Amino acid sequence: MDRFRFIKKPPIGGTEFRTSRIPGFYRLSVEQRLAFLARSFNLDDEQVSQLRNGNALRMKHAVNMVENAVGVFGLPLGLGLNFLVDGREYLVPMAIEEASIIAAASKAALIIRKGGGFRTRINDPVMIGQVQVLDLKKPQKAVEQIKNYKEEIIAQANLANPRMVQRGGGVFDIETRVLDGGEDVGEMLVVHLLFNVCEAMGANAVNYACEAVGSLIEKVTGGRVNLRILSNLADKRIARAEFTLPFEHLTTKEFTGEEVAHRLVEADRLAHVDPYRATTHNKGIFNGLCAAALALGQDWRAIEAGGHAYAARDGRYRGLTTYKISSGCLHGEIELPLQTGSVGGAVKAHPGVQILRAISGVENARQLAGLLSAVGLGQNFAALLALSTVGIQKGHMALHARSVAVSVGVPPNAVEEVTQEMIRRGEVKVTVAEDIYRRLQKRPKQVEEEDELPVETFAPGKIVLFGEHATVYNYPGIAAAINIGVKLKVTRDPDGPRFLHPHFKKVFSVPKSDQDIQLFSNAVDVALGIYDLRNEPIAIQIESELVPGMGLGSSAAFSTALCSALRQYKHLKRSKRWDSDFFDEVQSLEAIFHGHPSGMDAATILSEGVLWFRKGPPREFLPIQVPTPISGVICLVEPGARTIELVKKVANFREQKPKYVNGILEDIGNLTVDAGIALGTGDTYEIGKLMFRNHELLAKLGVSTPALDRAVELLLDNGAIGAKITGSGGGGAVIGLVEPGSQFDLMESLSHDFPMVLPFTLGALR
Ligand code: MEV
Repeated sequence: MDRFRFIKKPPIGGTEFRTSRIPGFYRLSVEQRLAFLARSFNLDDEQVSQLRNGNALRMKHAVNMVENAVGVFGLPLGLGLNFLVDGREYLVPMAIEEASIIAAASKAALIIRKGGGFRTRINDPVMIGQVQVLDLKKPQKAVEQIKNYKEEIIAQANLANPRMVQRGGGVFDIETRVLDGGEDVGEMLVVHLLFNVCEAMGANAVNYACEAVGSLIEKVTGGRVNLRILSNLADKRIARAEFTLPFEHLTTKEFTGEEVAHRLVEADRLAHVDPYRATTHNKGIFNGLCAAALALGQDWRAIEAGGHAYAARDGRYRGLTTYKISSGCLHGEIELPLQTGSVGGAVKAHPGVQILRAISGVENARQLAGLLSAVGLGQNFAALLALSTVGIQKGHMALHARSVAVSVGVPPNAVEEVTQEMIRRGEVKVTVAEDIYRRLQKRPKQVEEEDELPVETFAPGKIVLFGEHATVYNYPGIAAAINIGVKLKVTRDPDGPRFLHPHFKKVFSVPKSDQDIQLFSNAVDVALGIYDLRNEPIAIQIESELVPGMGLGSSAAFSTALCSALRQYKHLKRSKRWDSDFFDEVQSLEAIFHGHPSGMDAATILSEGVLWFRKGPPREFLPIQVPTPISGVICLVEPGARTIELVKKVANFREQKPKYVNGILEDIGNLTVDAGIALGTGDTYEIGKLMFRNHELLAKLGVSTPALDRAVELLLDNGAIGAKITGSGGGGAVIGLVEPGSQFDLMESLSHDFPMVLPFTLGALR
């Protein structure tokens, strides 16, 4: 695997991160997620291992952080996705033990980004330091004195924090309040130092300043100073986040979008008028906000304390959010004090926080406050949405059940069934998920009962997405089954067995087509031998939508359709999609066409999906689950050369210029690894970019032609996201990836430039 290192050199976060929208992230294995992060943020092996094992914080750090240290404490760490805040994309690291929080935040952010995401307004980072003055005969007089000596007090306070002053911060104003401490304490003066703490959370700096002015304040007021400490009711440092969402994005199965919006407003209103509800409402906000604050090294207790106090600012404890309806939209907002820091504290002392900060994309304390307020609002929106529609238990349970199913290794195609069964039983547990999955595996597979003739089968064609030619040298390749293929029919024929004249789609006059047809006929003969059907009264007829010689896998599709039909005829059922006997049978027919086929075509066609392949040994066939359908077009350009000739051409070139050619092959190998991840995460733009890069490398290998290069350019000029040769080159076809929804327009506009243009969709066949 050394050849395919994802990891580039530090600094972390050096690569520009494009989007927080990563469809199917939850379906990736943890290792795939980490590989994605490593690739996107230049993490080295050590950093990846620290994230995976939660051991970024070692004992040596812990002993410098707290007293009596005996260890470090772990919590699950996940990524909140889809956050678009003030037009910037953020991934939100969240450390939390409660299931569903991260999924709910990500879901909320996904819905909210449909309305343009979150917008925030963040006040300057002004903290309040308090100095308590007692034993005053005339508190109002003391107030006057503080006003008179304001400049001196400010100067004295700032002497304690010269570096902060240099950075443009420090104490800049003073406020006073006179409070009644009751009979035993009497009236007291509280002096507030207003302190711009710049990028810091500010606790230390503010506390220094308060302590520094104590004796001066005693002197000017004639009183006695007791407490000198910051206030966590940081109400000068308010963060506001809001979003606007047209009703259409709120529609559920049961309710119209407008109804959902109204129900949400009603739910929010209860938190405004009832402290019992407000407490739970705000707890939900801090579920997400504090999980992110913790992962990003913030003092989440300060944030939470400030938030709760602010919630009671008018004398009654209320929810921190407000939802309204206007002009066909739901408008949600949150307002709370946020004391965030991008320097000092755990931000500096905890090495894991540094990695997570880089992953988040947050650059300063203001952005951090914006992001945290958005997370809090999003978390609340998710909770209210569930509570005011299906109820939280159902939503929670489904999310929780899904994560339990995934955690016990249930494969993606069975997760839904296992999840639903757990919910039906009302038991969401690891042991129950394991049990359900075990039973599912034992369930007899449905097999097609096809006793009667005619037998009809279909096998799809394939395209090579990445890695052609490099696969010969044991680098990986990625291929995908396509929607068009070969139809085969076995009918009764007293003069049989016979292979009826095949119907291929012909778009070019292929000089050696008679020779090709002879190969198909030979393959039929071998297949009849394999299944012991040499004396059967049957006729075999094919109709192929695949033009032979275009690299679309017509021989493998034919071999698969044939073996499948003859098995059905013999009542030899395939019990599962992947059956190695069946694969071997198909391969032995493929050998008639290709000598020593690698197996990539047959495996891709059998998998009916997107397949990662490596020749080996050991041979690697790994299905890639593409999370959302990705569309493209196949353009047939010119008659293709024989694969064997092109493979030879590359081998000769490699003999002449080993260093140059090996370098290209290695580049193709590395790029294919990246492409595997991009496909697994549904990153269409990355896939497109890598496709074009792959084409350039194939051209350098000498397997492109002027017509193929022109075709790739034409596709890109017409808006394709990426394009390349597919297959061995020397002629044949090119493929292009298209913007969602534009596949058929592009086919239309290219229809005059190529003899044939076909659609394909990845991730949709199975
Ligand atoms: C559970 O941790 C949080 C919720 O109760 C919040 C709320 O009720 O708004 C779902």
